[in-house]
Amino acid sequence: MTKLHPAVADKPGVMRTTGWGDYALMDSGNGRKLERYGPYSVVRPEPQCLWAPKLPAEIWEKADAVFDPTDEEDAGRWRFKAQPRDTWPMAWGDVRYKGRFTAFRHLAFFPEQAANWAWLDGKVRAFKGQPRVLNLFGYTGVASLVCAAAGAAVTHVDASKKAIGWARENATLSGLDDRPIRWICEDARRYVQREVRRGNRYDGIILDPPKYGRGPDGEIWKLFENLPELAGLCAELLSDTASFLLLNAYAERISGAALAGLLSDKLADRGGAIEWGELALTQDDGTREIGMSFYARWTS
Ligand SMILES: C[S@@+](CC[C@H](N)C(=O)[O-])C[C@H]1O[C@@H](n2cnc3c(N)ncnc32)[C@H](O)[C@@H]1O
Repeated sequence: MTKLHPAVADKPGVMRTTGWGDYALMDSGNGRKLERYGPYSVVRPEPQCLWAPKLPAEIWEKADAVFDPTDEEDAGRWRFKAQPRDTWPMAWGDVRYKGRFTAFRHLAFFPEQAANWAWLDGKVRAFKGQPRVLNLFGYTGVASLVCAAAGAAVTHVDASKKAIGWARENATLSGLDDRPIRWICEDARRYVQREVRRGNRYDGIILDPPKYGRGPDGEIWKLFENLPELAGLCAELLSDTASFLLLNAYAERISGAALAGLLSDKLADRGGAIEWGELALTQDDGTREIGMSFYARWTS
């Protein structure tokens, strides 16, 4: 039977991440945000915060770590009150992972993604049987581990050996070593092209590509040039009973509407529905939120 075009939501949605035991957006303003990552309070640049902070300056000044940027991209340097631990344990639900101060101004995972983790957890648990989930550009693996903990068989793909090593450490920390997770260090496009040729299929796909990236053999990834082809190949990889495809992007000059337009093009004969919008971090006191990235997601 021919399926209808997916129904595309006529309005954007907002996926909100609020703090949990190990993470909080404590305050924001003057182009920076003050967050808590487990035991550490951290100040990082956030040019979108055009407002004034709410908490007194003394609280900001007490931060354990401050990232001083040297350019508008990711470069810069951490300044610490006291030498922090190399890694420390963090948790979201049953999933455990290590926080660490990386050279790229983040802490080895992206807290705003928690709203997506909750959504993925629900999708995997609602699937009849064991879904096969593909996580492309999977980094340190929190989304992969959330899906594995919920019962999925997961294929995690990332170009960085180091990121895969950290993801595996996180799997061990989470007590998920015995789960069916395949860790693949490969260029995302190459992997997907090969899977299409082999005829392999997935019941859920997570796609969170950076603006620029490199595969392990120097393959160049450029979001605006390569995403349409990759999204098309991912559409081919969806099984007949597939449940979801979640696309997230941080790049400037993209929007939830653009991502929804792409999915609606590539999934034209899949039926189902496409929602799209913005992923936001809600400040602890509930008074503000910071738009962090855009998403579009197809569900059957
Ligand atoms: C922004 S992170 C993705 C965040 C991740 N999805 C998460 O929620 O933690 C980008 C990741 O893409 C990986 N990457 C960059 N270029 C790649 C490529 N061509 N193929 C596969 N992975 C790539 C990087 O190694 C990095 O781990």
